[in-house]
Amino acid sequence: MKDFIEVKNVYFQYEENENDDYALNDVNMTIGKGEFVAIVGHNGSGKSTLAKHFNSIYIPTSGDVFIDDLNTKDDEHLYDIRKKVGLVLQNPDNQIVAGIVEEDVAFGCENIGVPSEEIRKRVDAALKAVDMYSYRTHSPDKLSGGQKQRVAIAGIIAMEPECIVLDEPTAMLDPQGRDEVINTVSELNKKMGITIILITHYMEEAVLADRVIVMDSGKVLTEGTPREVFSNVELLKRHRLDVPQATELIYKLSGCGFEFPECVLNEEECVSAIVSYCKKQKKI
Ligand SMILES: Nc1ncnc2c1ncn2[C@@H]1O[C@H](COP(=O)(O)OP(=O)(O)O)[C@@H](O)[C@H]1O
Ligand SMILES: [Mg+2]
Repeated sequence: MKDFIEVKNVYFQYEENENDDYALNDVNMTIGKGEFVAIVGHNGSGKSTLAKHFNSIYIPTSGDVFIDDLNTKDDEHLYDIRKKVGLVLQNPDNQIVAGIVEEDVAFGCENIGVPSEEIRKRVDAALKAVDMYSYRTHSPDKLSGGQKQRVAIAGIIAMEPECIVLDEPTAMLDPQGRDEVINTVSELNKKMGITIILITHYMEEAVLADRVIVMDSGKVLTEGTPREVFSNVELLKRHRLDVPQATELIYKLSGCGFEFPECVLNEEECVSAIVSYCKKQKKI
């Protein structure tokens, strides 16, 4: 897999915090083209600061970020980088700019000068991709949080980015809205091959990614497949991080002397681990 994003020895300090710690403190990572990566970490660990480095909103204080080999430090690449990487934020209300869904989705395309016939096509395709086409003439005000967030994602997709960075896109949504958004994001990755970077507090969402990167105090604490990362419950707990509930349950049972061969990541795996344990004990 070709690298799409490279973060090399990145330090970042907010100007107003000149005497404080660095918000990013020697961050290194690569993200492959077409990969689905989740970034987790407690509040203040630097996730949002890092997200804003992916489309040149912030430039490293030192070190480099390359997007498809373009250094975000070079002003002449700004337009290309913003076209390649779209950013979806936490609050869908702050991202909606127009009074009608399809106009809202068209807004970003208009800004980058896409011809109007082409915009029409892209808006329809983007609304279909997030399953909001039937709402195209509705007012965004009346939509649920999950629907608004999907409209915001459609606005980004219409600009045809190669990568979408989502900074806690489900934090303000109810469970149904969260499912809608996460399923949409997962489909964009699988069906359209869009590189996805999902920043989330919900470990159940992180489990769906190809790879999980854990941030702590402006650094990468650990990374790996969801199973590799969530196998290390103790490390995560030491850093005040959660694991998926199913993982936690099996971990706690293991602490009571029940033996399970490997870490589980979701309810189905948890049920089958318990069932096979009971069968082994000839209790069923
Ligand atoms: N606009 C800002 N100005 C000054 N400091 C900031 C700003 N945004 C974030 N920080 C600080 O940078 C650190 C990382 O914050 P942030 O990237 O928002 O973390 P996260 O998204 O993981 O919660 C924190 O210490 C935070 O207080
Ligand atoms: Mg944040």
